[in-house]
Amino acid sequence: METVFESENIKFVNLSEELISSYMEMVNDTERVGRHIGISGPVSLESEREFVSAALENGKTIFSMITRDGDAFIGNIELDPGKDNTAELGIAVRSSMQDKGYGSEAVKKILSYGFEELRLQRVILNVHKDNPRAIHVYEKLGFKKTGESGNSYKMDIFKKEYKEKHEHKNGGD
Ligand SMILES: CC(C)(COP(=O)(O)OP(=O)(O)OC[C@H]1O[C@@H](n2cnc3c(N)ncnc32)[C@H](O)[C@@H]1OP(=O)(O)O)[C@@H](O)C(=O)NCCC(=O)NCCS
Repeated sequence: METVFESENIKFVNLSEELISSYMEMVNDTERVGRHIGISGPVSLESEREFVSAALENGKTIFSMITRDGDAFIGNIELDPGKDNTAELGIAVRSSMQDKGYGSEAVKKILSYGFEELRLQRVILNVHKDNPRAIHVYEKLGFKKTGESGNSYKMDIFKKEYKEKHEHKNGGD
């Protein structure tokens, strides 16, 4: 699997058929992953395969994250482009890799990739109100709540805000 870009501890690779069993294990972990990303029922091998092949065919900006030190699967992260140079962020870290700093590092890196390489101006997301860890991570990195819809908050960050918050600090990841 070819690395598209990397941060301090994470390699970002394109989605891969080789990782399908890891994807399934992750999204079918309803309590610690699935329910936070809107997946309630079991995801079948067939539908996961379709998801991967459609994402690859359509050139979607979705990456699998792999540890740099041990080639272990961490999770997936996506920037889904919309209009006006805006994209929607999605991330899932598998339960055994949660709370180790990977999610924060990955979101920071993909924001930098989105603003610099994809020329985005704004990144938006929706997060369930009962997901305090994700809300904490997003706010720590500079996202702000812009509203709410049902049981979710809407959040966003603009390129200018991201640069002001992160770029004076040694430019690292
Ligand atoms: C949300 C998610 C991306 C965060 O990634 P992660 O690697 O687990 O998070 P990190 O280890 O980088 O950071 C966790 C931070 O949240 C804090 N945290 C943990 N549980 C918390 C809680 N219940 N309330 C508030 N903060 C919490 C940690 O202390 C840590 O804070 P710090 O960086 O200031 O020390 C990841 O847990 C995940 O994918 N969860 C399941 C799917 C999901 O929720 N996706 C997002 C949907 S919007």
